[in-house]
Amino acid sequence: MGAAAIHFSVAPEHLQVYLPFGILFILVGGVQAALAVATVVRPGRKVYVAAVLLAVGCLAVWAVSRTAGLPIGPAPGRPEAMEVPDLVTAVFEVLSIVFYGVLLARGRRPGRSGRRWLAGSIPMALVVTAVTSAGVSAGMNPLPYAINMSSSATGPGVTPLAMLTQPSGQEPVRSYTLTARVVRLHGAEAWTYNGTVPGPELRAMVGDRLRVTLVNDLPASTSIHWHGLRLPNADDGVAGLTQQAVPPGGTYTYEFVVRDPGTYWYHSHQDTENQVPRGLYGALVVEPAGAPVYDRDYTVIVGDSNTEADAPRLSAEPGELVRLRIISAIAEDMNGTPELLALLGAPYRVVALDGHDLNEPQELGPELLPVGTGQRYDLAFRMPVAGQVSLRDLRPQSGGRLPQRLWATLGEGGAPELPAGALPRFDRSSPLQYAGSSLPTFDLTTYGTPAPDPVADRAAFDVSRDLRISNQLGFRYGSQIPKVWEFIHMFNGRSFPDTEPIIVREGQYVRLQLVNATDEYHPIHLHGHYFSVLSKNGRRISGSPVHLDSVLIGPHETWDVAFLADNPGLWMLHCHVLIHAAYGLSTMVSYQGISTPYTIGTRDGNFPE
Ligand code: C2O
Ligand code: CU
Ligand code: CU
Repeated sequence: MGAAAIHFSVAPEHLQVYLPFGILFILVGGVQAALAVATVVRPGRKVYVAAVLLAVGCLAVWAVSRTAGLPIGPAPGRPEAMEVPDLVTAVFEVLSIVFYGVLLARGRRPGRSGRRWLAGSIPMALVVTAVTSAGVSAGMNPLPYAINMSSSATGPGVTPLAMLTQPSGQEPVRSYTLTARVVRLHGAEAWTYNGTVPGPELRAMVGDRLRVTLVNDLPASTSIHWHGLRLPNADDGVAGLTQQAVPPGGTYTYEFVVRDPGTYWYHSHQDTENQVPRGLYGALVVEPAGAPVYDRDYTVIVGDSNTEADAPRLSAEPGELVRLRIISAIAEDMNGTPELLALLGAPYRVVALDGHDLNEPQELGPELLPVGTGQRYDLAFRMPVAGQVSLRDLRPQSGGRLPQRLWATLGEGGAPELPAGALPRFDRSSPLQYAGSSLPTFDLTTYGTPAPDPVADRAAFDVSRDLRISNQLGFRYGSQIPKVWEFIHMFNGRSFPDTEPIIVREGQYVRLQLVNATDEYHPIHLHGHYFSVLSKNGRRISGSPVHLDSVLIGPHETWDVAFLADNPGLWMLHCHVLIHAAYGLSTMVSYQGISTPYTIGTRDGNFPE
């Protein structure tokens, strides 16, 4: 009966993908259910033999489909992945062969006394029911097969996404080649660009044409996304949306003009949840035009694949003006709790967030800088006459990573001391909040000096949408066996790809209210645009205008943000805690009338998250 239930649960998906298999699953499920009933009401040799034969047949077909691949179907000769539903069913079938075998060997003689039978069968029934429901719910949440995200597929006024590329021009060209390949680093296997984690730092001057060729020497397909950049949609690097994932052995060239100076990064956007933590990311710095203002300009990527034991020692002379660009690529924290970084040894200013300058930032002493994954903080300071400056991570220990890690030291001499009582701890009453540090926490909603912001200052918006973030325990994608119990994450009660896209037209001003109904942090990231922050928990921001592509929404916070829709295309809007995105916290900002030929799902092997 358990195997029958699972066969029924996977039938709808198969009916859609390949009709004969869908019908077969319904037939097999029906016969299995009938045999289970017959075993109780009309037990007998014929029933037992039929049940054994059916189970053996199912197991044989299953074994072929998972090894050599079936000769017929949507992908003849290609083995299918093992998933929760089929594994559970196979176990049931093996058990039923044993069970009916015993019945056959015993003949028709009744079994042991009724009581003992009952005592044994109740826990058995509970286990079977629990395992069946696991298999059924995983069976009802399969990986998508082939979902097309066009905002309009055909008709007049439809722009194919492939046309949204960089027009040719005379800009100076910066060319890079990034070869994605597996190497051993510090005794562990890493997926790298050009053999290092992070990958090479790419630099360009604002207005340059960046040309990057991706060479895929990985055993899996991949892509590169340019996080935070406003670029033509066709070069956004999202598998199944703006391109077909680049297969092993393939190459792909991205080309676009960098419009905005600032600190950005690049990373894979195919199977992101797995590929980024393995090391497929690197920094991208767009330098402003004009003579350099800073004597030193350094980038530090805070990431968990960075297995180097020692923090980089960066050189800087006393009196030099230093810009330190910090990128958080942390992927391992399941709750999205931000890094708590502290710059010690010199007063500093936060001069930019997510690459965008802040207006007249004040000088700060040691503070906790909460940097959510995907976000960037640019700090500027003058090297002191004596002693080092260091960037430390004061986050309480979680996820098994070293707490209080040193991320960078600059200069020579004595290391700066950590102020007394600086180390925060997790607050017991609300387990994901920090408490107890003697240091203030940096608050981007009150920092810097007010200035006009053409988006934030608008009295009215053309499109207003609320996005409520919630989660619930459940199953998603039967294939992810070790993570079956992760929370499913949802925007407005639906998880990707069933989330409702935000449809916009070019030139519209769009306001989003992001409501976090969970106990976790969610850095919500929009591709191809940046937000102006309007308010946090209903209070308008009172400092500098703040422009972010990744807004960190703390537990039970509400943030209002807005953007100008000035870059036509199909753009992802998702949480940058990659496991949250993979478990549904993803949606789209889709301009009307854009079509894409690509699909997300198993048919073409595109999995953007
Ligand atoms: Cu940094 Cu959709 O990604
Ligand atoms: Cu992005
Ligand atoms: Cu999240």
